[in-house]
Amino acid sequence: MFYLLCTHPDIQIKAQQHVDSILENGRDPTLADFEKLTYLQHIIRETLRLYPVTVGTIREAKQNFHFKGYDVPKDSAVLMLWSVYCHSPELFDKPDEFIPERFEQVENENLMLFKTPTFGVGNRSCIGKRFAMIEATLSLAMLLQRYQMKLSNPEYVMKTKVLVTMQPEEDLFITFAKRF
Ligand code: HEM
Repeated sequence: MFYLLCTHPDIQIKAQQHVDSILENGRDPTLADFEKLTYLQHIIRETLRLYPVTVGTIREAKQNFHFKGYDVPKDSAVLMLWSVYCHSPELFDKPDEFIPERFEQVENENLMLFKTPTFGVGNRSCIGKRFAMIEATLSLAMLLQRYQMKLSNPEYVMKTKVLVTMQPEEDLFITFAKRF
């Protein structure tokens, strides 16, 4: 997320203005601010769409089924790769671009959940989803309030690797400059 904010300074500034308008006079956020910090939530969801920390999940087929030319027998383990799914041009305009605004006009929240299932879907989806969203939103708000972020090495281009979770292939260094 920091990488994306550094490489999209216009979005970082918009996010800072959003935070400043909600957390008047630089006050600390409270839980009640979570629902108001919508643009930060869009940034987090868009980051998780582009870089799903958990790249996929496995389910067991309850019955035989046919999918895109494949016959899948009952009891097979089926691996769903969110990293492929979340970059599908069938589901998203400009799927490889960082556009938090795409979460602004969501007509069907359930459909969007299926399109961006980085916390999983269904009965076994992530139990910590709300906690993770609150924690990430409020921490990001406090960082944006205080600091301007930029890549320590402006030439750095992030590539990812998967070791259980998705992570940068090479260490990423960010410089935090005080805003005031
Ligand atoms: C950005 C942060 C997080 C992401 C992306 C994430 C993602 C996921 C995913 C994809 C699953 C599997 C869902 C499925 O198979 O359908 C999962 C399961 C789970 N997550 Fe998270 N998670 C996050 C944070 C957390 C936190 C903070 C907690 C605990 C406080 C947590 C607790 C769990 C548990 C207990 C399960 C297993 C649920 C079950 O099997 O019924 N997660 N998470």
